[in-house]
Amino acid sequence: MLLIRNIGELILFETEAAPMLNTAGLRRITDAYVTIEDGRIVALGADADCVALEWFDVVDAGGGCVVPGLVDFHTHTVFAGTREHEFVMRIEGRSYAEVAEAGGGIRTTVKSVREASEDELVALALPRLARMLSYGVTTVEIKSGYGLSVDGELKMLRAAKRLGELQPIEIVGTYLAAHTVPAEFSDRREAYLDLVCSDELMGTVVDEGLAEFCDVFTERTAFSIDESRRVLLAGKERGLIPRLHADQITQIGASRLAAEVGAMSADHLETIDDGGIEAMKAAGVVGGLLPGCSWYLGVEQAPARKMIDAGLPVALATDFNPGSSVVESLPLCMNIACTQMKMTPAECLIGATANAAAAINRGGRLGAIREGMQADLVILDVPNLERWMYEAGRNCVRTVIKNGVVVHDCDGTGIGD
Ligand code: NIG
Ligand code: FE
Repeated sequence: MLLIRNIGELILFETEAAPMLNTAGLRRITDAYVTIEDGRIVALGADADCVALEWFDVVDAGGGCVVPGLVDFHTHTVFAGTREHEFVMRIEGRSYAEVAEAGGGIRTTVKSVREASEDELVALALPRLARMLSYGVTTVEIKSGYGLSVDGELKMLRAAKRLGELQPIEIVGTYLAAHTVPAEFSDRREAYLDLVCSDELMGTVVDEGLAEFCDVFTERTAFSIDESRRVLLAGKERGLIPRLHADQITQIGASRLAAEVGAMSADHLETIDDGGIEAMKAAGVVGGLLPGCSWYLGVEQAPARKMIDAGLPVALATDFNPGSSVVESLPLCMNIACTQMKMTPAECLIGATANAAAAINRGGRLGAIREGMQADLVILDVPNLERWMYEAGRNCVRTVIKNGVVVHDCDGTGIGD
């Protein structure tokens, strides 16, 4: 049994509803304790009421705030190569779409990934995941989408699966062969879509249990609504849950398609319109917000306030990738959501925990501190949630507990008052 004592502020979500529509279910206990057994939270409450039995392993939170382990539900963490030249091109005035149309963008990373071995992809991703863990992230979704061939896509997803066995973060695989049309298929789009939906590729992904989700980049420069629908329905037929990169650069109806195919989330949404918000809300699709991406590209953020005020549940992720969001830190993205999207720290925490878990079909097990939930917890070196968000860019995480086990610990700089 593990006992965490001397918690300055424990953040609970009392509601079992996931995703959460607002902050009404969030409760704070000051001077609190939590006990953990077999990877589950078994008891919690005021520290004064804690009965510390002698066989407990005790962790002193030192007056720090304790929050649920963060869930980064949208990332492209498996990749090779870097694209800093595009970063400079954008500073000089080219847009993300212009860089992609000039043959850069995703296709540049495809070249690097095709040249890398599965072992190399694993070795490149391990330190990234170690840093994500140090920021308090305990679950990470990883997409394919830089292989765009049978070998390349399977290599990426097999690497992602192995990563789940090599380090503490739980890994969730997503099949994203429909990320862009690879150069060799440029004038044979239908043939590429046939391959994406084939037994050889999609079928193997399912047979080997490499992915739970099927994603499509639905965008003018990538796949049309009809093309996306075809891939998502083919995936659904094989048991892959649909999700989309939707309404990022141009408004072509992707959020409505997400509603139509019963997607679990539609992510980006920088150009979502009122009809898209209503359609997603009616169909129970989570609005996936990626504030680090718009921040990194220097473009307008998604209208988070409008979505939340309309009653659409939103989740937050990094979209960590080598092109549009070279941002590993989910807490930094939460801070950007505060300052640029006017989400409150409480809304950001819900977005990066309970709602993010719901967006990857894990709402009943992960993303909340409550009796019976999996014990994925983060001890911060600050006394409250607001202080964490207020300290932009500093890593305030002291200790990370995954499934009841301490998996990351650093001395921190002491708890502020
Ligand atoms: O989520 N939008 C499409 N895909 C990624 C970017 C991938 C890349 O540029 O390598 C995204 O932003
Ligand atoms: Fe993405």
